[in-house]
Amino acid sequence: MSIGRFLLIGGIGFFGMARHGLAQSTPGLPDPLRRDNGAVISTVAEWNQVRRTELIELFTSQVYGRSPEKPAAMAFQVFDTDTKALGGKATRKQVAIYITGKTDGPRIDVLLYLPNRGRKPVPAIVGLNFWGNHSISVDPGIRIATSYLEKSRNNPYVNLECVVDNRATEACRGINARQWPLDSILDHGYALVTAYREDIASDVPATRFSTGVHTAYPDWQNRPDNFGTIAAWAWGLSRIMDYLQTDRAIDGKRIALFGWSRLGKAALWAGATDTRFAAVLSNESGAGGATLFRRGQGESIRRLCTVFPHWYSTNFRQYMDKETQLPFDQHEVIALLAPRPVYIASAEQDKGADPIGEFESAKAASAVYRLFGREGLPTTTVPPLNTSVQGTIGYHMRTGEHDVTSLDWRYFFQFLDKHFTMK
Ligand code: GCU
Repeated sequence: MSIGRFLLIGGIGFFGMARHGLAQSTPGLPDPLRRDNGAVISTVAEWNQVRRTELIELFTSQVYGRSPEKPAAMAFQVFDTDTKALGGKATRKQVAIYITGKTDGPRIDVLLYLPNRGRKPVPAIVGLNFWGNHSISVDPGIRIATSYLEKSRNNPYVNLECVVDNRATEACRGINARQWPLDSILDHGYALVTAYREDIASDVPATRFSTGVHTAYPDWQNRPDNFGTIAAWAWGLSRIMDYLQTDRAIDGKRIALFGWSRLGKAALWAGATDTRFAAVLSNESGAGGATLFRRGQGESIRRLCTVFPHWYSTNFRQYMDKETQLPFDQHEVIALLAPRPVYIASAEQDKGADPIGEFESAKAASAVYRLFGREGLPTTTVPPLNTSVQGTIGYHMRTGEHDVTSLDWRYFFQFLDKHFTMK
């Protein structure tokens, strides 16, 4: 790829920040294989037993906040099963996860579609959705979400005219189906498993920590490493995994996470902390997700902590304006997935997510994959636009804006099919 292409990618910076730089190694980036005391990790055993724990603690205490253990009283209720959903193509199931075991406590509705054709048990793709389970398909059998739903005008991704008093109505079915290619997911042999972000935790600053799973942990906000919303979403994904481990139609060893944007940030942290997830697909997760802070491009820590004060822990605020001095960076979150497959997808115009920073982060995480004898990212230079590179880490930068498109999914399928040996 020519330098000219990168200069074109440059252009006007995000919120007045500097333009995107040329792809190159990022000076001063912490080495994931170097311990806090300076010792260098040289074996898989040391990584697993020492460094992994150290990094999880660093990101827990400084960035995401501390999450509770799996709740002992949690209960699952399968409240819907239709073996002839989507014209007979799929089995639809809906499961209520009662976090405290009480039906009047926090409840996460999980929607599953399992392909009726093909070998069982099936692998699954698990991802949180932005606008309710009913938004991913027009299927009239999906329970309409009852949690808060935003009513923003001119949302570029969905038409939210159907929202009345911040609640979904029948007219909201399928409003975001475009980003969820359910037929293709099933045709590729995967189950789709999804849940609504607002069932787990409020994404509205004014009501933060006062809905969903946070209500079960009221004291957890009175500490600087408080259980933020991104951590809560990740924790919710682990609770969905707890259910999936009990469902014999699902192959518990082939469960991949998918997440776009803020939900991609949560998917990466869920994959980092819960090794039962066998792969992660991060779509434009950007700042506080896959991209490097240290480059000082795109969204800053200050913006993350002020516009979205509920996402990360209070401790994270001490790093505002200190991007170049961080004792960690987000490539180490990707490294925590090693040796499991992870795909990082970027979009050229998604300046806030710093697409080159996402590539550089994947590249820097590759050192840990190499420790495991895996290739990590199979290139050191950004691939041409709309072209995918796939080692145990995959990457593409497509043309266009922040979104989830059929090209993103095409590469996700290619990558997962290979790693989950679907063919
Ligand atoms: C905002 C935010 C990003 C986030 C995105 C999204 O743009 O600044 O960090 O990824 O919302 O979730 O769509």
